[in-house]
Amino acid sequence: MRAVTWHGRADVRVDTVPDPTIQDPTDVIVEITSSGICGSDLHLIEVMAPFMSVGDVMGHEPMGIVREVGSEVTALKAGDRVVVPFNISCNTCWMCSQGLQSQCETTQNRDQGYGASLFGYTKLYGQVPGGQAEYLRVPFGNTLPIKVPDAPLDDRYVYLSDVLPTAWQAVQYAGIPQGGSVLVLGLGPIGDMCTRIAKHLGAGQVIASDVVPERLARARRNGIEVIDTTTQADVVARVRDMTDGRGPDAVIDAVGMEAHGSPLASLAQKATAVVPDAIMEKVMQVVGVDRLAALNTAIEAVRRGGTISLSGVYGGATDPMPLMTMFDKQIQLRMGQANVWRWVPDILPLLLDGDPLGVDDFATHRVPLEEAPQAYMNFREKKDGTVKVLLQP
Ligand SMILES: NC(=O)c1ccc[n+]([C@@H]2O[C@H](COP(=O)([O-])OP(=O)(O)OC[C@H]3O[C@@H](n4cnc5c(N)ncnc54)[C@H](O)[C@@H]3O)[C@@H](O)[C@H]2O)c1
Ligand SMILES: [Zn+2]
Ligand SMILES: [Zn+2]
Repeated sequence: MRAVTWHGRADVRVDTVPDPTIQDPTDVIVEITSSGICGSDLHLIEVMAPFMSVGDVMGHEPMGIVREVGSEVTALKAGDRVVVPFNISCNTCWMCSQGLQSQCETTQNRDQGYGASLFGYTKLYGQVPGGQAEYLRVPFGNTLPIKVPDAPLDDRYVYLSDVLPTAWQAVQYAGIPQGGSVLVLGLGPIGDMCTRIAKHLGAGQVIASDVVPERLARARRNGIEVIDTTTQADVVARVRDMTDGRGPDAVIDAVGMEAHGSPLASLAQKATAVVPDAIMEKVMQVVGVDRLAALNTAIEAVRRGGTISLSGVYGGATDPMPLMTMFDKQIQLRMGQANVWRWVPDILPLLLDGDPLGVDDFATHRVPLEEAPQAYMNFREKKDGTVKVLLQP
């Protein structure tokens, strides 16, 4: 089959790789019809490159049609339409039963010291072949895939794999009081969806910051108050003005470690490009090379007693955090990979009854799998108005 494969920094290709096969009696094979490109995929061709291997199949936001089921699969049959969550979670262990699918005890990567395996995502998370491909082997066929109706188009359901539950969790963790205020940092697919969900769930004031004109325009069209800068001092000053001098009740960081605004960290990151990966693999976990620009803005901007919700992914271990300020401001900080299945029962009804979150028009680009390399670069460089790309194998 054809699949998007990792070849190095800023280098993905479409290669022919072996078709996946049923390995366990609870596996299913899904023929992929739509598969998103995510901001997390960009980390893999940048900062997280030391944890990838040439030929790894990318992608963790797929949906499609079940083509084959293992002998013990009773919940699905060939022809069913499913969305595949990015967490590989059994949905039967203790962690899964607590709604913490990203910590699934069946797929936890204990040898690496990391949580549940993820599709298409680094050695730290199991190095499992991903879903930007024609076919995908999906384990836990009875409990993992999300069965969805045959209509309407894929766009309606595909974001259940990641964007919707991630943004939903970010908003829940933000704990915005009814009618309260939230600042969303970053208007990529995750930040954009956070603004929509925050409004839908009753936030009174939704403010967002980014610098990419198309992304700001999109948010503005949805009635979001936008701040067209990411410079910390400017964002903090403007958001204070907009919130009676106090700062917002909550800040959602939907940026993560590719933030712009921190030249020193950026140098450290570039250094990873010239040091052999075996060494960097250690250095990344011990020293940490994150750019904390967005997180620092969040800490400064949030009102005293407010909440910060981190959905942006951070990679290193020991970046200097302004812990004194965080402590002094009595900030609550919640974070983590989204627990996809935890939120499916809340979100699915919104997709079955109209389209209150605007998912049908959410993708800016739908392209054949063969065009993935160009689409990746456009998404990375924010060219051609690219916000969300769906690959259509
Ligand atoms: N927690 C999870 O389960 C989960 C799931 C999916 C994605 N993510 C993470 O969420 C983050 C966003 O993903 P995305 O797909 O929207 O990616 P993206 O890269 O398209 O979006 C990031 C946006 O942040 C903006 N930005 C950069 N620096 C900024 C700053 N200092 N202040 C404000 N905005 C700034 C960029 O211009 C860009 O528009 C990534 O870190 C991704 O890995 C996490
Ligand atoms: Zn994703
Ligand atoms: Zn589990």
